[in-house]
Amino acid sequence: MCGIVGYVGGQDAVPVILDGLKRLEYRGYDSAGVAVVNQGSLQRRRSAGKLDRLASSLAAEPLRGEWGLGHTRWATHGRPTEENAHPHQDCGGHIVVVHNGIIENHLELKERLVEEGHRFVTQTDTEVLAHLVESAYRGSLEEAAREALARVRGVYALVLLHRDEPQRLVAARMGPPLVIGVGESEHFIASDIPALLRHTRDFVFLEDGDVATVTPTALSVRNLEGVEVTRPPQRVTWDPVQAEKGGYRHFMLKEIHEQPRAARDTLLGRFSVEDGEVLLDELGPAAAGLREASRVMLLACGTSWHAGLVGKFLIEHLAGLPAEVDYGSEFRYRTPLVGPGTVAVAISQSGETADTLAAFREAKSRGALPIAICNVRGSMLTREAVGSLLTHAGPEIGVASTKAFTSQLVALALLALHLGRLRGTLSPDQCREHLVALARIPHLMEQALSRADEIEELTRSLTHATDFLYLGRGINYPIALEGALKLKEISYVHAEGYPAGEMKHGPIALIDDALPVVALCADDHVYEKMLSNIQEAKARGGRVIAVAPSGNGDLRGLLDGPGDAILEIPSCPALWSPFITVLPLQLLAYHVALRAGRDVDQPRNLAKSVTVE
Ligand code: AGP
Repeated sequence: MCGIVGYVGGQDAVPVILDGLKRLEYRGYDSAGVAVVNQGSLQRRRSAGKLDRLASSLAAEPLRGEWGLGHTRWATHGRPTEENAHPHQDCGGHIVVVHNGIIENHLELKERLVEEGHRFVTQTDTEVLAHLVESAYRGSLEEAAREALARVRGVYALVLLHRDEPQRLVAARMGPPLVIGVGESEHFIASDIPALLRHTRDFVFLEDGDVATVTPTALSVRNLEGVEVTRPPQRVTWDPVQAEKGGYRHFMLKEIHEQPRAARDTLLGRFSVEDGEVLLDELGPAAAGLREASRVMLLACGTSWHAGLVGKFLIEHLAGLPAEVDYGSEFRYRTPLVGPGTVAVAISQSGETADTLAAFREAKSRGALPIAICNVRGSMLTREAVGSLLTHAGPEIGVASTKAFTSQLVALALLALHLGRLRGTLSPDQCREHLVALARIPHLMEQALSRADEIEELTRSLTHATDFLYLGRGINYPIALEGALKLKEISYVHAEGYPAGEMKHGPIALIDDALPVVALCADDHVYEKMLSNIQEAKARGGRVIAVAPSGNGDLRGLLDGPGDAILEIPSCPALWSPFITVLPLQLLAYHVALRAGRDVDQPRNLAKSVTVE
């Protein structure tokens, strides 16, 4: 998704904007640009490719700005060229705009504007906004923006400036996120929090339909009808350092190793071992509704959907509640049976995923109790939920989700235990036993991560593999899916996750010595069955990489072929094994991608938060 940064205040706008865009690079982009005003003159500089090309151009021919805006573009309409890079401007070159989203009716608007005499120079939908505002402008940029947006259909997070309205930016949101950073006699606007953490921790989160105007000392927000709305600043406690690599080669590797801390932080203060209780007062008004729950719908996309699959196991096992999991992109296109007592739990790292938001709204409109499990305070999802269970993973910069995923598992474990206590399917003693084991998980994660070097070594023999098959059973079947997704999304090597019991119904035909089979074993009731599946694969000449609790004698005798391997993990209760079995798979994906020379933090074609449907 595109990155947006705007600045008004006493600093030179150019370095502030560039630095902010650099901190948004993880969102994925293919061109960049800035526009600033200095002593009444509006200057634009854009370039295709990465930010360092724009930075070199600015170093060669410096720009200075009293205020301005910048953008990193993830091309939707029009190729990633300098011409199509934002900011885009009107005919007169007085108004510039940066935009994240899609203007669905841009062609019909463009036709009308051309008839009015406007001249277009790009293939982008965004340029229409600049001319639309120009045609509505009669001395107030904010009013012109509101009038223009009344004609727009689509989704947008945008920032505008007019050369003749000094030290003023106008921002508007419908869909993709937009935050305003509040400083001392300065304001910042960005598409995501990490861009601004070095300047401020006080943020105003714009909502759909908001139009905000900022100057160095003033901030006002109105709706599309011009009525003032209140958006009190919220303090974000993320440490700016957390949004840095901290000495790791990639954000993803840092975030893999941050998981024990993230799990601890997500557990902190949310249970009492002595009472055998889970403490989720933060769910507020939703807490009462949970008592009446008769079923749970888990709505999510991608990795968060895999977390939902683990959540299903936990909720059904611990609380005796039926739980179904649905893709955000599918839910609203079927006829979901939502009745009184249905709890809709949306799981999202960003809280801005369009498909998940749409499913959440659909479930809510059908009467479900909406609860969010999310990593970003103030995100759209948390604002539309009746109660939120925040994960405390800190900013997750790598496009491939890791620490957010295991933090989501912590939140789901707490929710399942809480439901078990509310419904009486768990006694305080039983809940206490589970909590004691859960509280040990961060330590076991640290043990598992301490063997990272073995996995790096193993990937040396995997550089020629073009396909992988991941197998898991029971609560580790979702982890097989997650391991496959991790590999394919950052190494571009195809991988498929499958329930191990399904192998004989088709995928076994794939087995040969060129196809690594990654098999997940845990100390659980399906361990013997996993052993049989591994034997089936070996009997057909397959090479097997088993993830298994250390000291496993069965596998040692079995996996003695070239290319076979056992990735040992600490033993833990089956219910919590996904926290551990996923770790070697994250590292496996990371090192395969590294050896393939991939851009691990910003894989091709991917965006950190998919805010369009
Ligand atoms: C995960 O590695 C992917 N980047 C992607 O599948 C992601 O999980 C999905 O887009 C959902 O994002 P969310 O958790 O922010 O809603």
